[in-house]
Amino acid sequence: MADKRAKHEHPVWLITGAAGFIGANLVRLLLERDIAHVVALDNMAYPAVPENVRALRGHPGFTLVEGDLRCSETLYSLFRSARPDAVINLAAQSHVDRSIEAADGFVETNVLGTQRLLDASRRELEQHSADRRHRFRFLQVSTDEVFGSLDDGEPPFTVGSPYRPNSPYAASKAGADHLVYAARHTHGLATLICHCTNNYGPRQHPEKLIPLAICNALAGRPIPLYGDGRQRRDWLAVEDHCEGLVAALERGVPDGASGGRYVFGSGRDRSNLEVLELLCTLLDTRRPEGAPHARLITPVSDRPGHDRRYAVDPTATSHELEWRPTTVFSEGLARTVDWYLDNPGWIEAALDGERSNWISRHYAEFDMAGRERVKS
Ligand code: DAU
Repeated sequence: MADKRAKHEHPVWLITGAAGFIGANLVRLLLERDIAHVVALDNMAYPAVPENVRALRGHPGFTLVEGDLRCSETLYSLFRSARPDAVINLAAQSHVDRSIEAADGFVETNVLGTQRLLDASRRELEQHSADRRHRFRFLQVSTDEVFGSLDDGEPPFTVGSPYRPNSPYAASKAGADHLVYAARHTHGLATLICHCTNNYGPRQHPEKLIPLAICNALAGRPIPLYGDGRQRRDWLAVEDHCEGLVAALERGVPDGASGGRYVFGSGRDRSNLEVLELLCTLLDTRRPEGAPHARLITPVSDRPGHDRRYAVDPTATSHELEWRPTTVFSEGLARTVDWYLDNPGWIEAALDGERSNWISRHYAEFDMAGRERVKS
């Protein structure tokens, strides 16, 4: 790959996991706004959805490198040719249910992969001027799950909340965060860490709650609701999250007031049952032949160790980064439903082979028949 800097005045941003849900949305935002030249690294295996970046191939601001984050040689050669001004680490295994079933892949991708990326960043920067080292940013995209679970009425998480990860997934993300912090403290790498709440929007893998519910409802299949359905999540539109990531790269300060750490969320949490009921209402108006879709909501056994509630207070982040979420949940959810309805081909591609096998296997464990619907 030729040096992108020679051809573009834009900074070069290396995005790992670019064919995943958040990665693909972030790449689109950057290309639409012409903010950066994107060098995307993805191994194109689960949880990537290759369809997410297919239409971007050939875009002059986009270079896709198919390779494994855990391979140091791949990373060294990529850094040598692309010479990124920033790295945004979005490559991760992220589905809690899968991490409960088998955690190894989470440790390998989320922990080892992050360390390899930190090493490659450091090794590349050693050859550059102090000024370039100072301007470089390593942005780790973490999660609010590293802070554990809140009870109803407890104040939301902030960057000052202690790490208390509960699931293997959350523990692997917490481990990665600690390695990022260590790279800053020990080696002086200019790092930032962002903790976001649950995202929703186009191109999310159909194993996560909202796309799973849409896909099942369209197929007339039960919509599985874990436990009592009163677990609460703060849902942020993926576009708002991506705006936050750009703000962090443009205005974040590694040794700033919050220590270069930021939390993104909408500021309001909702129960899973409330979310599914709203989703079903939206489907009723769009697919009246299947109404009422809420009859498909089916309580199933709870997720082991299920975190009760996630919520963040984004006030400090909003001030520091001049960032505000702008999407109203009901409108963002309606647009999300419409995107899935308009893109049956994407759903089919996202659910090929192993991806749909896992979903069938996982839900086969539940008795989805004959259980009463819970009322909100
Ligand atoms: O907080 C950010 C995190 O949000 C991200 O770091 C994770 O990558 C992301 O997966 C998400 O974690 P959750 O476990 O909250 O997301 P999920 O979509 O799997 O589930 C959302 C809620 O819905 C959760 O309380 C479990 C429940 N659920 C989920 C599924 C898949 C159900 O009731 N039924 C289901 O079939």
